[in-house]
Amino acid sequence: MKIFLDTAEVGQIIDGYKTGLIDGVTTNPTLILRSGRQQSDVIEEIFEACPNLESISAEVVANTAEEMVEQAQPYIDLSSNVTIKVPCTREGLKACYELSNDDVLTNVTLVFSVAQAILAAKAGATYVSPFVGRVDDNSFGGLCLVKDIANTYKMHSVETQILAASIRNVRDVGRAFEYGANVCTLPVKVFDKMYDHILTEKGLELFDKDYAAACKS
Ligand code: G3P
Repeated sequence: MKIFLDTAEVGQIIDGYKTGLIDGVTTNPTLILRSGRQQSDVIEEIFEACPNLESISAEVVANTAEEMVEQAQPYIDLSSNVTIKVPCTREGLKACYELSNDDVLTNVTLVFSVAQAILAAKAGATYVSPFVGRVDDNSFGGLCLVKDIANTYKMHSVETQILAASIRNVRDVGRAFEYGANVCTLPVKVFDKMYDHILTEKGLELFDKDYAAACKS
């Protein structure tokens, strides 16, 4: 059960890394835009600050597999832990196949069907990213998609890891793991909420009160 942070905010990534509970980071062009920085600077800084993460993803955006592989090269040169994120398209999967053959970690993103997940596995993807929230937005079951991919992969002993993405609430984290996700990538606000439970708060209040009373007596 691995937790990745889905953000390009380096300060927040460092805070998460310090908890010891974070295994990796995913970024995408939208998150990079929101950070107001260049992708290369963000990725480089994460590697420097968080050397023990198993995966830091950098997304390539191009029309052809050749261009995607070319775009990936500076990131690959940075570290063997860099994961190149490619879209689940004909060209993206061609790039995935090439990169995987060169032992580069890959994440096939924008996956919305079992058929796409099958192709990603065939292309040698390290991770496949079903977008749970966006499937739900379109009135299909995002978590069912995770379950269906997990069952299919299990039946055929596929090694590609299921990285549940576009997760927007804590409940879906538990469910995604229950349904067979290997990794959940989470916005920081969802990760932070995983700590919380009203009964923990109430219980702690009572223990604090009783501890103080016991110390007095
Ligand atoms: O990892 C993909 C994720 O960032 C997309 O999330 O909420 O924009 O669908 P969302």
